[in-house]
Amino acid sequence: MKSSVMMPHIVRFLSDFFSNDFSDIETYSLERKIPASNKCVVEFLRFMVNLKKPKNILEIGAGVGFSTAYLASNGARVTAIDYNKERIDEAKKFLKCFNNVELVFDNARNFLKNCNEKFDFVFVDAVKRDYLEIFYLLESCLENGSFVVFDDVLMYGLVADVTSEIPEKYKKSTELLNEFIKEMYDRFDNNVYLLPIGNGVLLLNYEC
Ligand SMILES: C[S@@+](CC[C@H](N)C(=O)[O-])C[C@H]1O[C@@H](n2cnc3c(N)ncnc32)[C@H](O)[C@@H]1O
Repeated sequence: MKSSVMMPHIVRFLSDFFSNDFSDIETYSLERKIPASNKCVVEFLRFMVNLKKPKNILEIGAGVGFSTAYLASNGARVTAIDYNKERIDEAKKFLKCFNNVELVFDNARNFLKNCNEKFDFVFVDAVKRDYLEIFYLLESCLENGSFVVFDDVLMYGLVADVTSEIPEKYKKSTELLNEFIKEMYDRFDNNVYLLPIGNGVLLLNYEC
């Protein structure tokens, strides 16, 4: 399904300014229909990592490593997890030149329940209907001022669509994403911002 969050001519305009640093991973994903983060989103991650200079990054939903490469580009330690073994193995091949990246084959639920580390920057790009549950599990691994970026929170724009019929297969996810967004704004108020890039990105400046 095509995203209706960004206008195509704006995407084309922005693309001229983007790097092609990891186009081999992007092309591999596109050709095999393996989901990868939107180019506008990974460039945003690169910007945020440069700005915030985190020391310990967690990625939930690494895929074959496209967004991981951008998160790791500033030299911070990155732990990237995915419960798809084939994808993690492929990501290991693509990212072998990064000695600051650890790719972990695990389910986010299991990983977070057993995690006793703190992360100062987290990128969440997993199953969208799980975001609220993942956030609750993630909280014990966050510290004051940690940044958390959730990808695809507008789900092609459907989450904000009150005019047209939402296809049956997206109904539950859009409902749960709506609840997730409301909960984030209720709890964190002006420490949350929803950016209409890619399929919608929610940025949280976590305050304990
Ligand atoms: C959209 S893809 C990630 C794309 C990746 N960020 C990139 O740019 O290449 C989502 C990934 O999350 C993984 N995933 C979904 N739910 C998960 C969970 N609960 N635990 C671990 N991985 C999960 C899927 O296997 C899938 O590879």
